[in-house]
Amino acid sequence: MSTNKTFTMIKPDAVANGHTGAILDHIIKGGFKIIAMKYLALSKETAGKFYEVHKERPFYGELVDFMSSGPIVAAILEKDNAVEDFRKLIGATDPAKADKGTIRNLYAESIGANAIHGSDSDENAKIEGDFYFSALEKF
Ligand code: TYD
Repeated sequence: MSTNKTFTMIKPDAVANGHTGAILDHIIKGGFKIIAMKYLALSKETAGKFYEVHKERPFYGELVDFMSSGPIVAAILEKDNAVEDFRKLIGATDPAKADKGTIRNLYAESIGANAIHGSDSDENAKIEGDFYFSALEKF
């Protein structure tokens, strides 16, 4: 059974390029309700911990540097079939391969600086949401 929540981050490239408002609008118009949200800067240590599952992958160091290069917006989102529908809304990891009209197609720069994160499973949505938000901070 799938849960109705997912977790997202608007990444440093999209925030720095002034796309935060447009992306939030896209998410809300896509039928997602924001149930927790914060604007914050990640230290290398925190970014490294969040992406620990990718530790052995060749892009890990670059990813950690990039994710700690500027402020991000982290949020928990709610919708039926949230994880799958949100992955559709953001598009493929590589913006060159992302479907037209998806968030990565519209706002991402490259496979590394790809504008937005979306959890890839219900289990990870819960782990990632809990990484950033305490029970008090969730609506
Ligand atoms: P991944 O989990 O494969 O993609 P997604 O974010 O679509 O679930 O990878 C995590 C992040 O790592 C990805 O959003 C951007 C970065 N990344 C690179 O920098 N280079 C790469 O070749 C890949 C596959 C990912």
